[in-house]
Amino acid sequence: MTAPAHPLTDLVRCWQHGWGVACGLAPADEADGALHVLSGKPGRHLESIVLDADGDPAALRALAAQVAGSPHPDWLTVPTTAPREVTAVLGEEGLRLAAEQEHFMTIDLRDHPDLPVVDPYSVSLDRDGPILDIRIADEHGRPAAHGIMVVHDGVAVAHNIATYRTHRRRGLGGAVMSSLVRAATGLGAETGLLTASKQGRHLYTALGWTHRAGVVSAGTREPRK
Ligand SMILES: CC(C)(COP(=O)(O)OP(=O)(O)OC[C@H]1O[C@@H](n2cnc3c(N)ncnc32)[C@H](O)[C@@H]1OP(=O)(O)O)[C@@H](O)C(=O)NCCC(=O)NCCS
Repeated sequence: MTAPAHPLTDLVRCWQHGWGVACGLAPADEADGALHVLSGKPGRHLESIVLDADGDPAALRALAAQVAGSPHPDWLTVPTTAPREVTAVLGEEGLRLAAEQEHFMTIDLRDHPDLPVVDPYSVSLDRDGPILDIRIADEHGRPAAHGIMVVHDGVAVAHNIATYRTHRRRGLGGAVMSSLVRAATGLGAETGLLTASKQGRHLYTALGWTHRAGVVSAGTREPRK
């Protein structure tokens, strides 16, 4: 078996950078085997992304204990090829598991299909430095789909890809991704990274993205009153 081109840890680091830029977050601090970022989301004071849960289970357990004991509602995100084992560890340490596991996916962007936007939809694509922002509108100019891609160091990270409910399964998700990938490769990106929801995984798999790891997440439990 040939080794994967990039170890998961490197990909997670690249993904976190792109996600942070997409969300306007300050650069993460790296300590104790994780990237720590003040996420500013409700219920997520500090988010810690574990870099090598599979190779360093002791660090994973220590990070889980740290988040469990935090006085704030902190959050732990764990890319892993062993999601069941990780889920067990986070539960044992007293964390509140997220309802749904996500999926860490990659693609060689040269293999990405280039799908058009079909009538009657129209596309606008803006660029702000490394951030590509696409919006698709219907024939009345109302929003139908959108997405962001951040390009850095040959890597493109997709974020906040969505099609409004009444416009789904008409090829807009594929068109959003295709337009972003076309622009990102024009900026030198070669590798695509993202974390996918269950629905998103269907779309990205149809576009040729590969599942590299599960993403297990959990937060600090609210203190008992
Ligand atoms: C995921 C999402 C963006 C897909 O958008 P979409 O515009 O419906 O996607 P497309 O029409 O381009 O789908 C292309 C192909 O992807 C696959 N696919 C997309 N959504 C799917 C689903 N819910 N179930 C199964 N396959 C799906 C199918 O193969 C589909 O082709 P088909 O319709 O000919 O069968 C949309 O469902 C959505 O916004 N979901 C909520 C937000 C979300 O989860 N975003 C992803 C974050 S990672």
